[in-house]
Amino acid sequence: MLLTRCASLVAPRAAARGALRRAASAVEDGYALNPNADGVGGWLAHRSDVGVAASGPGDDWIAPLFDGAGAATLLDARAFVARGAEMDHKPRVLVLHGSLRERSFSRLLAFETARLLEAMGCDVRCYDPTGLPVRDPTIEDHPKVVELRALSEWSEGHVWSSPEMHGCITGAFKNQIDWLPLNTGSVRPTQGRTCVVMQVNGGSQSFNAVNELRRLARWMRMPCCTNQSSVAKAWQEFDDDGRMKPSGFRDRVVDVAEEYVKFTKIMREYADDLNDRYSERYETAEKGRLLTQAEKEAAKEKEKMRSK
Ligand SMILES: Cc1cc2nc3c(=O)[nH]c(=O)nc-3n(C[C@H](O)[C@H](O)[C@H](O)COP(=O)(O)O)c2cc1C
Repeated sequence: MLLTRCASLVAPRAAARGALRRAASAVEDGYALNPNADGVGGWLAHRSDVGVAASGPGDDWIAPLFDGAGAATLLDARAFVARGAEMDHKPRVLVLHGSLRERSFSRLLAFETARLLEAMGCDVRCYDPTGLPVRDPTIEDHPKVVELRALSEWSEGHVWSSPEMHGCITGAFKNQIDWLPLNTGSVRPTQGRTCVVMQVNGGSQSFNAVNELRRLARWMRMPCCTNQSSVAKAWQEFDDDGRMKPSGFRDRVVDVAEEYVKFTKIMREYADDLNDRYSERYETAEKGRLLTQAEKEAAKEKEKMRSK
């Protein structure tokens, strides 16, 4: 683990290029329990058995939710099809969390959500923020950056789980979002993807982090699920295996995951329509294509120089 962390921190350029190829083509080798030597991959870290969706250590409290015997079964959520839907592939979900701690409750919460989403038929990839450098535009080819961007482009929705620290989301969480460009010309890694927000607290229940995450989702042009989860005193809500103990907080996480799956299945049908904008159609007609932010800034600079 330590070796993996160090390797990803000092990743040489060759490794970065290798990661670029791997992450950009989103090859299957990221579907593993552990990351590669360069820190990329390990998207199924939430599973205990790499070949079994929704598996996890310890008490499997999720499987009984799908046994079909009780009134509270989640089978309908798994089978849900949005009216008039044209897409029938598994919803592609990227799960982000905001802490590097060995026993991180925001990661444990993210992992429980990942298992629930897999059990409801989603294709889930959990991103490990370990080794992601602080945003610096001169190192955009860092393997962890390339991986994060490729995963977001791949996704149809995100799950965001951050701790609350000093009344805010963590730097570790915000840094991941800061690495995601709103657009690079016509490629938009976040726009139109759904989002659902969650937080863990050390103290009593609070909503500062989820409110902030919701605002962040708006900035990233991601429609955000109305339901959310805030786990108070998270240190007493998880057992030694890292599984959530039975509680109202756990029931809420199930509600959130259920709504999020339906929300994503509905919204992905219309993502392209929502992304189709007057101002961009106008720009494409005038310039032949959408300009990148850097091109827009350069054009503004040129205009400023000309008017001097
Ligand atoms: C510097 C610092 C500030 C914190 N501030 C808050 C806070 O404002 N509100 C809160 O509920 N918990 C706060 N906590 C507790 C954390 O939210 C809690 O320990 C959480 O589990 C950390 O996330 P992690 O387990 O994913 O690492 C703070 C913890 C630290 C270390």
